[in-house]
Amino acid sequence: ESIEKGGYEHFMLKEIYEQPRSILDSMRGRMIAESGHLMMGGVREYENKFVNADRIIIVACGTSWHAGLVAEYLIEDLARIPVEVEYASEFRYRNPIITEKDIVIAISQSGETADTLAAIELAKSKGATIFGICNVVGSSIARATDAGAYTHAGPEIGVASTKAFTAQVTVLTIIAMIIGSKRGTLETTRVRQLIAELESIPAKVEEALKLNDQIVEISKKFKDATNFLYLGRGYNFPVALEGALKLKEISYIHAEGYPAAEMKHGPIALIDEQMPVVVIATKDSSYEKIVSNVQEVKARKGKVIAIVTEGDTTIPSMADHVIEIPETSEHLMPLLSVIPLQLLSYHIAVMRGCNVDQPRNLAKSVTVE
Ligand code: AGP
Repeated sequence: ESIEKGGYEHFMLKEIYEQPRSILDSMRGRMIAESGHLMMGGVREYENKFVNADRIIIVACGTSWHAGLVAEYLIEDLARIPVEVEYASEFRYRNPIITEKDIVIAISQSGETADTLAAIELAKSKGATIFGICNVVGSSIARATDAGAYTHAGPEIGVASTKAFTAQVTVLTIIAMIIGSKRGTLETTRVRQLIAELESIPAKVEEALKLNDQIVEISKKFKDATNFLYLGRGYNFPVALEGALKLKEISYIHAEGYPAAEMKHGPIALIDEQMPVVVIATKDSSYEKIVSNVQEVKARKGKVIAIVTEGDTTIPSMADHVIEIPETSEHLMPLLSVIPLQLLSYHIAVMRGCNVDQPRNLAKSVTVE
């Protein structure tokens, strides 16, 4: 097992560090920046269906559901098709309205999640086209779908999903670009820019991983906290949910992810000098708004750990701890902003003596409902 861990103390850490490579593998052979050409076998097969879809419904659980939420922002913005993101476990029992013009995208690392599989069977029985995004080749979900794309992230052993998430988001970004360019909602020049930016992500993830030592220091300060809040807006909102999920599942600290603007509708009451608040506040279209959210937290003496874009000076002047990540297009930011959150949860869990790779009560593949 120690050989399989490749010198890392845990599979989770190994998998976090594999991301420059796994993200590259998930985009390899699927795009050419110079021409703006995008290729994905499974999408090509159903190209007309995608282009003419009335709606895309995404079904998934856990971290895969968070990747689905990122895809909602991507597909609606780049391809202008309405997207609904559903917990597979709720969707399957809700008597949902599904038509033959709907495309259902099922996202699953393991390809064995019982609820996601049941949601697929239900959508199939109503005539929808089912597209799968799986990591495990030949898995039940990969076999149950009409078409699909593999994420090629390589085996993920740690129960906490890390590299599968970034691979899913990469594949979904490519899908959103393909549909957008076929529908004419995304210009070729924009596609070329986005491809070039996506190609630069592995090197930027490498940069973000260099923050490890700084994150170890921050983890020492907060390892005994009993609660955490994670806030983000826009593309970083699903990342806030993902950061909170990572922390709770492996460190057993209660954590909540929230869209930053919703804070004033309730969670702001939780903030006092004991409350660590992780704010993902990178330079994007909601930057000015999140600056005010940080001020609101500071006014109530919350401890702000801010993830910011390199060179930012405004948020660092207010936050207690600042983690600087490289700049990128807001569409791709989740691929970078999630990295420090994965490391933060990892180090806090290790410092608390938790079993990081196999947390209590959890299984890697949830094959029961
Ligand atoms: C995430 O860290 C989880 N352990 C869990 O939420 C997981 O993402 C979920 O069970 C879905 O699994 P899947 O992607 O294999 O379907």
